[in-house]
Amino acid sequence: MSVWHIAGGRRLHGSAPVQGAKNAVLPIMAASVLAPGETELTNVPELRDVDATLRILRGLGCRVEREADAVYIDSSALTRAEIPHGLMRELRSSVIFLGALLARCGEARLSMPGGCELGPRPIDLHLMALRALGADIEERGGELICSAPEGLRGAAVALPLPSVGATENAMLCACAAEGETVIMNAAREPEIGELQAFLRTLGADVSGAGSATVRVRGRRLRPFRAEHRIMPDRIVSATLLAACAAAGGEVELLGVQPQHFSTVLHSLSGCGCDIMTGTGRVRLRREGNLLAPPPVITGPYPAFPTDAQPLMLAACLKARGTSVFVENVFQNRFRFAEELCRLGARIHTEGRVAVVTGVDELHGAPAVATDLRGGAALIIAALSASGETDILDSGHVARGYERFDRQLASLGADIELRD
Ligand code: EPZ
Repeated sequence: MSVWHIAGGRRLHGSAPVQGAKNAVLPIMAASVLAPGETELTNVPELRDVDATLRILRGLGCRVEREADAVYIDSSALTRAEIPHGLMRELRSSVIFLGALLARCGEARLSMPGGCELGPRPIDLHLMALRALGADIEERGGELICSAPEGLRGAAVALPLPSVGATENAMLCACAAEGETVIMNAAREPEIGELQAFLRTLGADVSGAGSATVRVRGRRLRPFRAEHRIMPDRIVSATLLAACAAAGGEVELLGVQPQHFSTVLHSLSGCGCDIMTGTGRVRLRREGNLLAPPPVITGPYPAFPTDAQPLMLAACLKARGTSVFVENVFQNRFRFAEELCRLGARIHTEGRVAVVTGVDELHGAPAVATDLRGGAALIIAALSASGETDILDSGHVARGYERFDRQLASLGADIELRD
């Protein structure tokens, strides 16, 4: 258990590079097993979720090395199509290996992935998509026993909702499915486009990523050697800007793609922040008081990202007026609000809606990180509180933020991570 110790009240200043995207690198590492080959990834962030995925790859028999921000994966030595329960529990997105292992080995055995703090995390859409491609999936004793007795065949896969993970799983499995697969109502997140770009370097025939219809023409992938630089993390970008909006000051982010988080920029500007974007960079300045922004309504991309909802809510705790947040993606993504109230925030939640009444002051207090983005939201609130805050964290924040204490300290925050 770690403790984030923060002395609030200091404004942030300076410029910061932004780490590689967690939600891009995880599916790409799963895709590296689609065929025997060597993958070299750069701009890979040092995160607990990345470490867990590297352990899964080693458990499958791949040779894996990590040197600074570079990861090397040799999947030619893959010997197993089974992921042990312990590893599956560590990482919700490990279910993404299902499609990749079915494509590579024609079989896979995984335990059901852990739920997480956001409410139930079903995988019914993943299973529906893979079954449409010819997979035979048996759910027995908490395990998924998968095979493709008749081989994988291209199919039309209509997703009832644009699930990011189900879209990615279907894309990976379709790479080995004979004929054309059309994924309809596909997720349009930028990370889908990043996965398509990587799959193309393996020789896969994938198109349409970023639109609601992704097409894959399956073919036997030959041994490959692929290199890929991971895109910048749009949610970490949003986090750093929300931190500056909350604490005040001026922060510039480098090596980012502002178009990937334009809805967040729009909301921050709606609070009265001064935002300037350029090629690969964005600068936020906040002087004076924040104002309550127009309602923040989350949804599948290109709507306001659910992962940035806790961050934006934390930035609005002292905004003049009443801020409204509607969480349309996950059922239970306001658990962190209770912890924010320990710092003096005034938040009322009802189902999918949270209403924040701006307060003049927040005060330091002990709190507990409930999940990855909820933990980041608590840190943001503590930066703008007067006094000291200790946030107990069982490792949630480190799942998605690379050395977050050092990054914020480099911008002037008084923050220390104590193990
Ligand atoms: C990905 O999760 C991200 N994780 C999440 O980021 C992100 O919040 C989410 O997409 C939405 O953008 C990774 O990419 C590793 P979904 P994923 O399938 O794929 C329901 C973070 O903080 N659903 O798009 O699990 C589901 O319950 C994390 O970085 C089904 O009902 O999200 C949810 O309500 C949190 N059945 C909604 O769809 C299914 O089979 C969206 O889930 C799958 C999903």
